[in-house]
Amino acid sequence: MATSVRDQSRLSVPFFRPELTDDEIDEVVECLRSGWLTTGPRTRQFEEEFATAVGAKHAVAVNSCTAALHLAVEALGLGPGQGVLVPTMTFAATAEIVRYQGAIPILVDCDPVTLNMDLEDAQRKLEDARAGQFLSSQPIDMVGIIPVHVGGDMIDMDAVAEFAEQHSLFVVEDAAHAVPAAYRADANSPWRRCGEDTASVTCFSFYANKTLTTGEGGMAVTSDPQLAERMKNMSLHGLSYDAWNRFSGGRSWDYQILAAGYKYNMTDIAASIGLHQLERAEAMRLQRERLAANYTAAFQSLSALGLPSSSPNRMHSWHLYPIQLNLDQLSIDRNEMVDLLREHGVGCSVHWRPLHLHPYYAKTFHWTSAHLPVATAEWQRRISLPLFPGMRDDEQEHVIRVVTQLCQRYAR
Ligand SMILES: Cc1ncc(COP(=O)(O)O)c(C=O)c1O
Repeated sequence: MATSVRDQSRLSVPFFRPELTDDEIDEVVECLRSGWLTTGPRTRQFEEEFATAVGAKHAVAVNSCTAALHLAVEALGLGPGQGVLVPTMTFAATAEIVRYQGAIPILVDCDPVTLNMDLEDAQRKLEDARAGQFLSSQPIDMVGIIPVHVGGDMIDMDAVAEFAEQHSLFVVEDAAHAVPAAYRADANSPWRRCGEDTASVTCFSFYANKTLTTGEGGMAVTSDPQLAERMKNMSLHGLSYDAWNRFSGGRSWDYQILAAGYKYNMTDIAASIGLHQLERAEAMRLQRERLAANYTAAFQSLSALGLPSSSPNRMHSWHLYPIQLNLDQLSIDRNEMVDLLREHGVGCSVHWRPLHLHPYYAKTFHWTSAHLPVATAEWQRRISLPLFPGMRDDEQEHVIRVVTQLCQRYAR
C-alpha cells in the first residue's frame, strides 16, 4: 500500500547528523599532540568564549548538562525532603538531579503548543505541595523551579522570575536545547540571550545531537561568583583548585579537599570540538531556522498536522521540529506514523514520554495522568522530524514528501 512512497526515493534521512569541520578535527589533533588531554587551557578558553557568547559572567565546563544541573542545585543548597517544580515534559536529567540531592520533583504540566512549563499549573502544584496534598500528606518545603526550553523555544523567563520571586524559589534553567536562543517580553523590550542572567544558573548540553556538540559535555553559567566557585570546586572532587592550576606551577602537590565532590570536569579534547562549534553556533542556528521555515511552508496546508510556533519575540534555537498529529483526522496513531516514517527512510524521534508515565516516577511519587492531563495527551501526538545543519535539500524534500503522502494516504 505504501510502496509508491518508497519507490520515489531510496533516500534514508537520519534524525540527526553532527556537522563537524576540519577546524574541529585539526584542533582535536593539536590537543592530542600537545600532551594535555584533560581539563586545561582549551577548557578555560572554551569557558571564557562561551560566557562571552551567552552574556554570562562565569562559566563552568563539565562533562554533561546533567552534571551542570546537579552542580547547580547542589551549590544552591538543595537538600533532602525539599521540593522543586520540574516539568513532566522533559528528559530524565531534569528530575533525576533533584533526586540526587534526596529532594522531591513536583511535576508540572505543559503548555499544549510549546510544551514548555505551564506556570498556572506550577502555581497549583506549588500550593498543593505546600498544603501537604502530595506523598505523605506532609507539607513540602518548596525551594526551587527548573524550567526547560523545549526544543529551544524559550519560556518567558521574566514570568518565571516573577513567579519564583513571589514564592521564594531559586531558578535553575535547563537550557539543554537552547544555545543560541534569546527572548524578549514584547516587541518593545530588549532581547536577552539564554544565559544572560536569565536564572541563578543556566545549564547547557553539548551531547552528540545537540545544537552545539562536544560529543558529551555541558556548561553551567551564572553571574554569581560564589555559585561559580562552588560548582567549579565540586566538579573536581571538591578540591580547592583544579588540575590545570595544580600542574601549571606553584605548590602543585598541595591541594585541599573542601567537600565530597564529583568527577564532572570537561576534557580539553572535548573543549577542542566545542571551541569551533561555538564559532559557528549562529551560522548553524540560521541553517536550522531556514530548514524549519521550509517545513512550515510545506506542511501549512496539511490539516492533519499542527506545526511548531515561532514567535517574533523569540530567537528559537530550532533544536527540534516537533509536528503534532491531529489524530481525529488520521486513521493511524502516532506510533504507527513513526513506524511508517522509519520504513520510508525518515529518522524521527519523540520528545518525550512525560516523566509521570515512567515507572520510577509513577511508583515512587504516585503521579497519574489525571495530575498532568495536557502532557499526557500531547505526547501521544508528537513526532520530532530530522533537522540539522548540513541537511541537504534532497533530504528535506524526501522528508516533506513522505510526511505529506502519509498524511494524505491515512486521512480519515
Ligand atoms: C531537556 C534536557 N535536559 C537535560 C539533558 C541532559 O543533557 P546531557 O546528555 O548533556 O546530560 C537533556 C538531554 O537530552 C535534555 O534534553
